[in-house]
Amino acid sequence: MSILEFNRVEKEYRLGETRVRALRGVDLSVDKGEFIAVLGASGSGKTTLLNLAGAIDDPTGGAVLVNGQTVANLSDDAKAELRSRTIGYIFQTFNLVSVLTALENVMLALQIRGGRIADIRNEAARRLDEVGLADFMHHRPDKLSGGQRQRVAIARALVTNPLLVLADEPTANLDHETAQSIIDLMKELNEKDGVTFLFSTHDQRLISQVKRVVRIDDGKIVTEMKTAN
Ligand SMILES: Nc1ncnc2c1ncn2[C@@H]1O[C@H](COP(=O)(O)OP(=O)(O)O)[C@@H](O)[C@H]1O
Ligand SMILES: [Mg+2]
Repeated sequence: MSILEFNRVEKEYRLGETRVRALRGVDLSVDKGEFIAVLGASGSGKTTLLNLAGAIDDPTGGAVLVNGQTVANLSDDAKAELRSRTIGYIFQTFNLVSVLTALENVMLALQIRGGRIADIRNEAARRLDEVGLADFMHHRPDKLSGGQRQRVAIARALVTNPLLVLADEPTANLDHETAQSIIDLMKELNEKDGVTFLFSTHDQRLISQVKRVVRIDDGKIVTEMKTAN
């Protein structure tokens, strides 16, 4: 069953009199357990695509379905619920809260839902351990390297046990070696727990790592290929 479906999706932004057609009839279907990359140049529509998949924004045409539900038909509360329970989002610039420690940043994603604080702390610590940050839990973001911050962001996205993780150029601000290790980590989590990953990149070198690549150009999907992985 598909966890994510785009049916002839259009997204037009209006800036005063100017219109930008960021997505022009995108069809895409992502099955549970997939590990898939959207490859495209800057301005091709990657962030727009991920924001629509993440129920952060609505399309101006066509339909986006997450786990069988048409996102645009959901109330604001139902969308918030979808974002906090079903989807994990990893931002290009990490978006960590600078005054909180790594542990507190990850705990925050669970605290939105409520529950016992001791359980929340344990679960957040377990996820940080899993991404290799056991010794850095009490560090604030400014005391972490770029790669470590991105690992915190991955732990935060995964701590709610989402079905679908969206990662917008998760390696763009990292050196090549660190980028490689972040991709390896996501792949491992995909293989171990069956979490579906959809990430965007403009780094051709990372493409060899994934099972399916979708190339987007000027708001249109131009090629889809299965790789040998
Ligand atoms: N909020 C916005 N308002 C107006 N235009 C936007 C907005 N966001 C993106 N765009 C435009 O939509 C196109 C696709 O942008 P984006 O999805 O950010 O591409 P990418 O992530 O691949 O760089 C670009 O032409 C960009 O300038
Ligand atoms: Mg972008």
